[in-house]
This record gives sequence, C-alpha cells and structure tokens, in this order.
Amino acid sequence: MRVGFCGAGLIGTFHSKMLRASGADVTWSGVFDPDVARRDAFADATGATPCDSEQEVVDGCDALYVCTWTSEHQRLVEMAVAAGKHVFCEKPLSTDLAGATAMADLLRDSGLVHQVGLILRRSPAFLLLQDLVAEEASGRVMSVVFRDDQYIPVQGMYASSWRGDKDKAGSGTLLEHSIHDLDILEHTCGRVASVSARSANFHGLDGIEDSVATTVGFADGGVGTMTSIWHDILERPSLRRVEVFCERAWVVLEEDDWFGPVSWLRLGGERKTVRGSELVEECEARGIAMPNPDGDFISCVVDGRPAWPDFDVALRAHTLADAVYRSAASGGDAVAV
Ligand SMILES: NC(=O)c1ccc[n+]([C@@H]2O[C@H](COP(=O)([O-])OP(=O)(O)OC[C@H]3O[C@@H](n4cnc5c(N)ncnc54)[C@H](O)[C@@H]3O)[C@@H](O)[C@H]2O)c1
Repeated sequence: MRVGFCGAGLIGTFHSKMLRASGADVTWSGVFDPDVARRDAFADATGATPCDSEQEVVDGCDALYVCTWTSEHQRLVEMAVAAGKHVFCEKPLSTDLAGATAMADLLRDSGLVHQVGLILRRSPAFLLLQDLVAEEASGRVMSVVFRDDQYIPVQGMYASSWRGDKDKAGSGTLLEHSIHDLDILEHTCGRVASVSARSANFHGLDGIEDSVATTVGFADGGVGTMTSIWHDILERPSLRRVEVFCERAWVVLEEDDWFGPVSWLRLGGERKTVRGSELVEECEARGIAMPNPDGDFISCVVDGRPAWPDFDVALRAHTLADAVYRSAASGGDAVAV
C-alpha cells in the first residue's frame, strides 16, 4: 500500500506519526509541499520521496492524504479521484457548502475509500460521552451546553497565517475549528432540526469570525447552546467542555478532548469520574472500539471496506455550519437544517 501526502505541515506530520504508530504496512511514496523545507523535513522523517508537484504524488500512490490548507482540498481530491486513488482528506472538506457537496457527490459512488479528519469521532472521551448519553437508562437528551475555545491559531504552535485569510480558510472559528463540534454534537445528542446564531469579529480579519454563539433545537425536542471562540490566551491552545443533561442522567466532558475527565451521575446513583487510562479502561469494558484512525483507513483500503467517518459525514457537518452562518448573517433568525 503506497501512501502519498500533499501538505507536510502540522496535520500532515500528525497523520504520518499516527500511521507509523499504527504499524500499518505502508510504503511512504511521495510528499509534496510548496514549502520545500517542510516537504524535505517530512521526507527525511518518513523516507517518502520529495516530489515537485501534487500530480507526481498522486501518480505514485494508492492512497492520498490531503493535508493542505482548506482551499486546496477540493482540487487535490478531484485529482486523486481522476487517477482512481483512495483519499483521506482533512476537515473542513472545503471553504463552503457547495464545494463540500461536490466533493461528497464525487466520492459517494466512486468505489474509492474515503475518510475525513473529524477526529473527535475517534476520541475515547467523546466515545464514552456518546455511549453514556445513548444508554436507555439516561433517557432523552433535554439540553446540552457545548463550549469550544482556542487561541486564534494564526499564532502559537499553529503559526498558520492562512487561517486569517478567508480565501484559504473559508471563514473563522466555526468552520475551521468547530466543524468538529457540530459533527460530534449531532452524533452525541441526536438530529439537529434548527439553529439560531450570532457571530462577532474581534480580531478584524476580513471574513474570519472569532466568536459564535448558537442555540440548537434537536428533532427529538431537546435544546442546546454551542459557543466557539478564538481568543488571545496563548495558555489555552484548544479546550472543550460539553455538559449533557438527559432526563435521568448528567454527563460532562472537560479539559482534554482525548482523555477527559468524563463524569456522570444518574438518578439514584453516585457521581463517577474517569480520566486517562481509567477512561480508556471504561471504554474497553463497554466494548467501545478505539482503532487508530489512520491504521483503520489503511485497513479499509486493503480490505475494500468503507471507511468512517466518510465524506458524507463531513457533508452533514458542513450543512450544519452553513445553517449557522446563514442564521448569524440574518442576525439570529432560526434556520431549519
Ligand atoms: N483534524 C484536525 O483536528 C485538524 C487539526 C489541524 C488542522 N486540520 C486541517 O488540516 C489542514 C491543514 O492544517 P495544518 O494545521 O496542517 O496547516 P499547516 O499550515 O501547518 O500546513 C498546511 C501545509 O499545506 C501546504 N500546502 C498548501 N497548498 C498545498 C498544495 N497545493 N500541495 C501541497 N501542500 C500544500 C502549505 O505549504 C503548508 O505547509 C486544514 O484544512 C486544517 O483545517 C485539521
């Protein structure tokens, strides 16, 4: 299985490390990044061949990782599909809903394996949260309070000026960061029926909103709020807090997206809290599968199985994001999804 990479930045490097950690039997074929220093550092670390174009990477691989800034995703995915190559694409799929729709349409009946980087779907903490909420004993979801905050990632360890450029990123904190949240919110709490949102722009970057507050109405009757912020507190690189109230259970995830803690309390029970290895053990005891996402992608390609989460999952998250933006543009009107 020959794996090629377009984009050798933060997330491209992350995937290469995850892939190595998974033990998947892959050949590192080509890597391209117009930032030659990054391309060569990636090539040195992995053994991949440094390429002079995206097409050269595509031609030499069986599966392509698209890890560039967002505006390049669609063109590179189309290039991969035209060459009959399987594709892992980072989120967001595109800078807008039209692009994401075209990409999902392209892959849906292509016979190619496709996966997206909606990584929270693979987090032990979020998997446990979802499992607890889904238990029949918890009852229906009544309300959720979801907060996601991060320092604006044009600085610090991200240091990516493209996140301040709407032509490359599409928009700000909601699309670039909280598309993860919209996806996991619906996955955990049920189908979203409508949204109403307000947004603000403190940093003055054109088209890059940095504060979004959304109220959500779920199809099953529950309601919730979601807040997404890009601030300047460099001590807070990325933190989420998700508190779900069900009819007979309270569940909260705090601090670390991957290892919690997750706490819960049920009617007639005692509060329980797990974090780190204890949290992973709790997942295992519940039979929750936690495969390495990159290793799993390669297994799907090898076995010819559909991968997950796929482009249609990402398209739904884009649909939610688009509804939030339309509501915010109207000053908060409810938008049906
Ligand atoms: N799943 C996640 O949790 C997660 C985390 C971070 C980033 N991302 C997503 O991954 C993508 C990249 O983000 P990043 O943090 O790695 O950014 P980055 O700035 O660290 O790296 C992006 C790289 O893409 C390169 N590039 C641009 N156009 C290219 C092209 N045509 N071919 C090859 N390389 C090209 C740039 O030179 C740069 O080195 C974005 O879409 C971002 O939203 C996802």
